[in-house]
Amino acid sequence: MSTSTDPSVPTKDNPYTSKLLVNRLMTEGSDKETRHFELSLKDSGLDYFPGDSLGILPTNCEGVVNDLLSAVGLNGNESVEIGESNMLLNEALLNRLACTVLSKIQIKKFNEFAGSKKLSDLLQVTNKDALVEYMWGRELIDLFLEFPQSELSAQDFVGLLRTMPPRLYSIASSLSAHPEEVHLTVAIVRYEEHGRKRKGVCSSYLAERVGDTIPCYLHPNKNFKLPEDSSTPIIMVGPGTGIAPFRAFIEERQVTGSKGKNWLFFGDRSQNTDYLYGNEWEFYQKDGILNKLDLAWSRDQQEKVYVQHKMIEKKAELWIWLQNGATFYVCGDASRMAKDVDHALRTIAQDEGSMSEEDAAAWLKGLQREKRYLKDVY
Ligand SMILES: Cc1cc2nc3c(=O)[nH]c(=O)nc-3n(C[C@H](O)[C@H](O)[C@H](O)COP(=O)(O)OP(=O)(O)OC[C@H]3O[C@@H](n4cnc5c(N)ncnc54)[C@H](O)[C@@H]3O)c2cc1C
Ligand SMILES: NC(=O)c1ccc[n+]([C@@H]2O[C@H](COP(=O)([O-])OP(=O)(O)OC[C@H]3O[C@@H](n4cnc5c(N)ncnc54)[C@H](OP(=O)(O)O)[C@@H]3O)[C@@H](O)[C@H]2O)c1
Repeated sequence: MSTSTDPSVPTKDNPYTSKLLVNRLMTEGSDKETRHFELSLKDSGLDYFPGDSLGILPTNCEGVVNDLLSAVGLNGNESVEIGESNMLLNEALLNRLACTVLSKIQIKKFNEFAGSKKLSDLLQVTNKDALVEYMWGRELIDLFLEFPQSELSAQDFVGLLRTMPPRLYSIASSLSAHPEEVHLTVAIVRYEEHGRKRKGVCSSYLAERVGDTIPCYLHPNKNFKLPEDSSTPIIMVGPGTGIAPFRAFIEERQVTGSKGKNWLFFGDRSQNTDYLYGNEWEFYQKDGILNKLDLAWSRDQQEKVYVQHKMIEKKAELWIWLQNGATFYVCGDASRMAKDVDHALRTIAQDEGSMSEEDAAAWLKGLQREKRYLKDVY
């Protein structure tokens, strides 16, 4: 949340218009698209710290809006009321409203017009899993294609839509290393489902911009910060785009001449194509600021190798770092990775600290209370 009350500081409702300086594909040859972005913060009044995130306010893609309009049976030139203002439907869809990602409440509202038995069954509380399965890979357009609505007015249609939410991205740079700039590491969401090519609103909006301006604001995160004592060792676990804040951490620690030791666990699909910021990590290792680097390539061999496997491989040393007061950070996928890393930590406490399962869980809770186990997961 932007907490500043200073009216000159940009916020979600009054964002800063940043110039996009760099949009670089980092995963040449991979079947996954991860990009590095650099945005200017010149004269923005935005001061961030490693661990903070940047909020981006995307607009919808013209092609996506046109396809939706044609599925709904409207032409976009209808006048609609959005909040206090009147505007053309086309403009509202491009700039103001979310019109792809589905929610349960939206399906409910849609079914007030469609009156479909299939949808009302799916909306029953007892059919939660079936609804999740139905929604997976479907967007608003799919509802209109499956249940055509020829009578819906433009105003009723916008009544189904919510305001476009901003998307957050963990900041991948230190302001001390890159004055007046902010860097991001973004996985571009692209997939094909139900016979249509889909793309994530904000990640594809960013991917398709060159030299444009981007509306953004700062989202501070006081719970994901470098230790106050710069001599404290840190262990960072950040597979995929989870690497972003750790680039900021290492840059900050290098620029400020911090004496604390740094250990990074990174993982992705393949070393040849997905080694995000690989040349920087190799440089920092030679330079001595990055004391330890462990890499997990999940698709370079038959068996999956993930960051938590590397943690277990190094459990004796990891335990010593933790006993010596290291702060442990994890960033990236919340649904599976962060849980597996949590489990690995408990296993390490059991194996190396001779703890019972309960004691290991209590120890990890204690680490969290002491703010030595910090998460930035999404
Ligand atoms: C604190 C925080 C920090 C974050 N930091 C980063 C970061 O550093 N880098 C980063 O890349 N992201 C980060 N994210 C995630 C980011 O905010 C967006 O959620 C992400 O970029 C997707 O947004 P989008 O608008 O492109 O996709 P949306 O338009 O929001 O679409 C996403 C939706 O598409 C659907 N979907 C996605 N993949 C598939 C698939 N394969 N099959 C079927 N359906 C699918 C799902 O319904 C999903 O909810 C962060 C999130 C948070 C909360
Ligand atoms: N649509 C797409 O093409 C696409 C592709 C990638 C990511 N995404 C989206 O982009 C977002 C961010 O992607 P990302 O780059 O941060 O991460 P990611 O691509 O999901 O994963 C990065 C690395 O973590 C591995 N991994 C998978 N499960 C794991 C687990 N349980 N524990 C530890 N590591 C695990 C992956 O291996 P494996 O993948 O080999 O199992 C990969 O090597 C995700 O939310 C995802 O939904 C979309």
